Amino acid sequence: MKCSRCKSLAQVALPSHHAGFCPDCFNLFFSRQVERAIRHFRMFTHKDKVLVALSGGKDSLALFRELHMQGYDVTGLHIDLSIPNSSSHSRAVVEQFCEGLGAPLRVVNMADEGLPISEVKRKINRPVCSVCGKVKRYYFNKVALDEGFTALCTGHNLDDEVGRLFSNTLRWDVSYLSDQSPALPAEGGFAPKYRPLYRLSEFETAAYCFLNGIEHSTAICPYSAGASFPVRKELLNTLEENSPGSKLQFYEGFLKTAKPLFEAAEERDGYAVSPCTGCGYPTSAGLCNICRMKEQVAAED
Ligand code: AMP
Ligand code: FES
Ligand code: ZN
Repeated sequence: MKCSRCKSLAQVALPSHHAGFCPDCFNLFFSRQVERAIRHFRMFTHKDKVLVALSGGKDSLALFRELHMQGYDVTGLHIDLSIPNSSSHSRAVVEQFCEGLGAPLRVVNMADEGLPISEVKRKINRPVCSVCGKVKRYYFNKVALDEGFTALCTGHNLDDEVGRLFSNTLRWDVSYLSDQSPALPAEGGFAPKYRPLYRLSEFETAAYCFLNGIEHSTAICPYSAGASFPVRKELLNTLEENSPGSKLQFYEGFLKTAKPLFEAAEERDGYAVSPCTGCGYPTSAGLCNICRMKEQVAAED
């Protein structure tokens, strides 16, 4: 197969784009998809201070490298979850990666914050993955706001977005459907959040890492057993194989056609936010979830 752009030998086949690319042209394709996402949603410019949440996985590292190469002012943020036999490895991967790139990195250690996820799992009687997600989002937002960042990015890719859209649709969750977007503006004391990889699939970010020698972590969280939805993923992959481009079409169609209808249907008066009495960050009333959790974790057994 020949590269669709320069006609040399293609190394990456992309049926969803009716194309195949050599490594250089694939990188160009990747850059253009990211540029297109940033431009379409007016995410940020070269004047912004951009914070990128880095887990150590392929997606966030690929995003960070790409934004760095495009000349954006990027800083990495890693949340060390303090999970034994897991977190130190992810942290080392992120530290090495940023050092190699010569890019700044902030690390927040959950043990220092009084919220090691191993203790959260032991003491809080709720599914640890959703609690951990809340903790991560809280610190993404806190670091962004405390340190003057004007944009906060995560590495969510097309497969993540389509998977979430599919689940929200199966439940007809109007509230989540009205809210799902690669760009959420700064609102109610929250930093503006962006997902510049929403047009790129898991396969494409993996190919980008492979072709650019990005060493990422492939370890899965030891607490995540049974947390994903393999049947749904399989269904969407079968659809994509039989009809290449379906995932992007489904997601873009949602953003353009369906989301405005869900937004209109959703009562927008919502809930009032006020500063948490403990940490000052936005919450619905009184002490926020994270401050409450810290008290629970600190309590004697
Ligand atoms: P996940 O929910 O694990 O699929 O992660 C989605 C995105 O959240 C990743 O692409 C990262 O941008 C970010 N992320 C997840 N875990 C961490 C972490 N421990 N530290 C910093 N960012 C993270
Ligand atoms: Fe948070 Fe596994 S529980 S990453
Ligand atoms: Zn609080």
